[in-house]
Amino acid sequence: MGFKIIGTGSQLPKKAVSNAQLATFLDTSDDWITSKTGIKSRTICSDETITDLAAQAALTALNNANLSIADIDLLVCATMSADYAMPSMACCVLEQLGGACPAFDVNAACSGFVYALDVADSFISTRKAQNVLVVAAEMMSRMLDWTDRTSSILFGDGAAACVLTAGDSLKYLNVTATPQIAPLFAKASNGNNPFVQNVQNYPNYPQDSVNNFLQMKGQHVYKFAVTTIQQEINLALNALHLQADEITYFILHQANTRIIESARTRLKLPLEKFPMNIEKYGNMSAASIPVLLDEMLQQNAIKSGDLLMLIGFGGGLTSGTAVLQW
Ligand code: UT7
Repeated sequence: MGFKIIGTGSQLPKKAVSNAQLATFLDTSDDWITSKTGIKSRTICSDETITDLAAQAALTALNNANLSIADIDLLVCATMSADYAMPSMACCVLEQLGGACPAFDVNAACSGFVYALDVADSFISTRKAQNVLVVAAEMMSRMLDWTDRTSSILFGDGAAACVLTAGDSLKYLNVTATPQIAPLFAKASNGNNPFVQNVQNYPNYPQDSVNNFLQMKGQHVYKFAVTTIQQEINLALNALHLQADEITYFILHQANTRIIESARTRLKLPLEKFPMNIEKYGNMSAASIPVLLDEMLQQNAIKSGDLLMLIGFGGGLTSGTAVLQW
């Protein structure tokens, strides 16, 4: 027994920030950002919290599933940018929705949504839960150095949610981590601990970590992403004895249109099989895949029986792939 998704929702911040707006305070241009990433705009939290957006996305998903929060047996949030280090975002969302059930966060960076699906599947398959609410929400804007043009232009904020219940939609799920901190990390603060002497001595700590902002070796991550997507697709297709053109949609993490395009050209498949919304939102980390999934459902782009391959990849370095039959 596995799961099926019976309701989805998404919520984006009101404030949209264009490339041209970034160019007013960064040495960048709409041309550079568009040609290198495919991003034209991103949405950024201003007078709303990421918990607010996550709770609204969750409420929409519950309404679409014709369930209430009282029907939920587990709430899992995929996030690395919650409003609080403690309690978890899952508990904050649960409080806003007025529910009571086990609730915790999963941090697998941009792969977080697929990791959270795996956790939900484990609870459902072992009958510890009947209905699970999976939320993925990121406020990447709080992790960025807004003076760094190499990273701040890439990301955006957003939230999405899915209600899962017992079913046979899930055909395949694989999550991995090949640990490497240095290519993509954001260092935690030591607070005002008077005993810390030299954090650079921590094993494997990148020696150039100087602040708590997200730091990224773009080309390293780019190569990891292109290679990983290819491997993940091959693994999934082999496991399911499918040809690539039998997958209706490849719903890939929205990190860069060039990364997605590279997967598409290798597979020699049409553009329609690789839906994208990165142009409007940038990279929303764990929230990218479920926001796109929700938008496709709202547009009636997904039909019963369609095969969807979801692939997340990012910090860790992590990756995760799920194949769902709708
Ligand atoms: O969710 C997973 C997380 N992240 C990713 O998946 C990101 C993966 N990486 C990428 O998408 C690409 O590496 C980037 C879009 C980040 C960068 O593209 P690139 O083709 O790897 O560019 P680059 O880093 O080689 O930079 C090319 C030039 C450099 O100038 P020089 O050294 O050639 O003079 C940069 O300084 O572009 C410069 N540059 C910029 N110029 C204008 C870097 N950022 C900018 C900018 N505007 N925002």
